[in-house]
Amino acid sequence: MKKNRIRLGVNLDHIAFIKKSRDTLYPNLIDAVKIAEDAGADLITIHLREDRRHIQDLDAQQIRDHAKILNFEMAHTEEMVNFALTLKPNYCCIVPEKREEKTTEGGLNLKDLDKNSKEVFKKNIDILNKAGIKVSLFIDPNKESIILSKELGAELIELHTGHYANKFNTIDEFEALDELTQSASYANSIGLTVNVGHGLNVENLGQICSIPHINEVNIGHSIISQAVFTGLKDAILKILSIINNHD
Ligand code: PXP
Repeated sequence: MKKNRIRLGVNLDHIAFIKKSRDTLYPNLIDAVKIAEDAGADLITIHLREDRRHIQDLDAQQIRDHAKILNFEMAHTEEMVNFALTLKPNYCCIVPEKREEKTTEGGLNLKDLDKNSKEVFKKNIDILNKAGIKVSLFIDPNKESIILSKELGAELIELHTGHYANKFNTIDEFEALDELTQSASYANSIGLTVNVGHGLNVENLGQICSIPHINEVNIGHSIISQAVFTGLKDAILKILSIINNHD
C-alpha cells in the first residue's frame, strides 16, 4: 500500500531574519507565504522567539492572516501560550529556547520537569487543544521523551533531526538514523503523529523520508540558503522532488 505523502512545512524564520536585520518592510513575508504555498508547501512554519530575533509579533499576525495552514513554534511560557491563543495557528510546536543558542539545539527536556511544571505543561497543552490548536512537542528521538509527551497530552511530536544531520556522512550516521526510525515506530505504536525537523537538506533528507510513519518534515535554513541563489520556489521544488520520489 502506498504511504501518504509526507507533508512539507517551510520555515520562514530566516527570511524574517533578513527583514529584522535592517528593520525594513522587505523581504515581504506575505510574498514568501504565497510563493511557498504555490510551490507546494503544505504549511508555513514560524518561530516567535522570546528575544524576537527574527519573526516579530506583527509578522506572525500577518502570516496567520495569509497562510492556509500555520505551524507556530514557541517556548513554553505564559506569554507565548497567550500569544498562541490570540494568534490561533493550526498547530503549535513547543520547543526549548535558550537566549545564547544560534538555533534550537536539542529537544525539550521533559524528564527533569518537576511535578508542578508537569501539571502546568499538561494544563497548557489542554488549553491549546481546547482552543482548536493541535500541539506538538519538539523532542529528541528517545523512548522516554516520547512516553512523557504522550503523558502530557500531546497528540503530535516533532523528532529533532539535528543529531542525525550532524552525523550525516560520518561513521555514526546509521546509528543516528536508527534512533529516529525506532522512535518514529514506537511513537506511532502509542498513537502519536510523528513530525521531524532540524538541519535537513537536499542531501540528508532522502533517508529521513524512507522512515515509516513520518507525517511531516519542517525545513527552514537549507531552503532559504538555496533560495538565495535560485529563488524560493525552486528551492522548495527541489525539496518536494525528494519527498515525492523516496521509496
Ligand atoms: N523544527 C523545529 C521545531 C525547529 O525549531 C526548527 C529550527 O528553527 C526547524 C524545524 C527547522 O530547522 P532548520 O532551519 O535547520 O531546517
